[in-house]
Amino acid sequence: MQNILVTGGAGFIGANFVRQALQALPECRIVNLDKLTYAGNLANLAGIAEDARYRFVQGDICDAELVSGLFVEEQVDTVIHFAAESHVDRSIDGPAEFVQTNVIGTFTLLEAARKAWEVDKSSPSPQPSSFRPCGSARGEGVLRQRFLHVSTDEVYGSLGETGLFTETTPYDPRSPYSASKASSDHLVSAYHHTYGLPVLVTNCSNNYGPYQFPEKLIPLIVNNALNGKSLPVYGDGKNVRDWLYVEDHCAAILEVLQKGQVGETYNIGGNNEKQNIEIVQTICDILDEKVGVLSSGEARRSLITFVKDRPGHDRRYAIDASKVKDELGWEPAVTFEEGIVKTVEWYLGNTEWVASVLDGSYREYYEKQYGA
Ligand code: NAD
Ligand code: TYD
Repeated sequence: MQNILVTGGAGFIGANFVRQALQALPECRIVNLDKLTYAGNLANLAGIAEDARYRFVQGDICDAELVSGLFVEEQVDTVIHFAAESHVDRSIDGPAEFVQTNVIGTFTLLEAARKAWEVDKSSPSPQPSSFRPCGSARGEGVLRQRFLHVSTDEVYGSLGETGLFTETTPYDPRSPYSASKASSDHLVSAYHHTYGLPVLVTNCSNNYGPYQFPEKLIPLIVNNALNGKSLPVYGDGKNVRDWLYVEDHCAAILEVLQKGQVGETYNIGGNNEKQNIEIVQTICDILDEKVGVLSSGEARRSLITFVKDRPGHDRRYAIDASKVKDELGWEPAVTFEEGIVKTVEWYLGNTEWVASVLDGSYREYYEKQYGA
């Protein structure tokens, strides 16, 4: 049995990952450590709470005693670290929480892993002393001790009209969010180089799909457009992001976990560059088609409102994902055209979820729907 500690598994990507991993890794047990901030929602995990291979622990990754205790109690041999403050706009309004969770929280997890896995810093080998090669004492195909740190392409800064981020692009974070993620990436890398901790780092582009908190561009626009509210587009709307369907990201993480080289970084992207305005227009058109135009008779594009730009707004992100493709064989399976329709349909079918997470009453909602 592989004992996986997932942090932030009640958030958007973490919840999608927990669902996928329980299916993909029948031998695994998952302990999900999540503080349940505004972004964490147990309803994201409805249906799996009863799984005997799953345990939820409400707690803070900055709580060293709790985290170290879990490593021992659960005999954790794999960490998939999602927990973070993740929204750039919030990081501009209040950076302190980002430094706390993203930097101190990651440090706390690294320390717990280093101690629990008895990494031998005097070893000349870059491997920890308790490192067990795949397929050895624990059986063929069994995963090894791994600390997989989930990060973002935003650590690389902002691109001009051309070029792509590769794994060797110098770090140049420009928002408090990306700076805190960059700090955590550096700590993870340092724990590998200094102590031989068996780490992997993934830097992924913008995700979209089910269970994304409706403050991020795509779910915010879907929700506002559905309700006839204005659709805020920052600046000229021509900022570019590379969009990846969340289930493809989770599949990539599983590939990196099982086949990635310890100490390596893997960029993950959708090869799907879109200007923000294109995304907003596409969502408007899908909704007009699926639920009809506004009661005023106008198309939803009429709700688009250009607003003051985000301070320090990065212009363009784009990923070169050839390493993960060439070395591990991963490629996205869902095109943007398919993924955006699936996403809009999911939000249309889950309006109660959206309302509950937005008004902060999601715990009540969860208890009503699924029991305490
Ligand atoms: P999210 O905001 O939806 O979820 C974050 C989760 O972490 C929540 O469940 C929250 O309760 C939990 N959490 C926050 N602080 C915590 C703490 N101190 N202790 C324990 N749990 C805590 O985030 P997401 O979009 O799912 O992103 C997950 C990870 O993936 C983050 O590390 C993010 O940087 C990274 N990432 C996200 C994207 C994206 O497009 N969303 C892209 C690339 C990388
Ligand atoms: P977001 O979903 O916040 O992700 P990130 O900032 O991490 O890329 O924003 C995606 C893009 O959409 C980004 O360029 C900012 C822009 N944006 C808007 O134009 N309006 C909005 O209301 C939001 C939330 C974002």
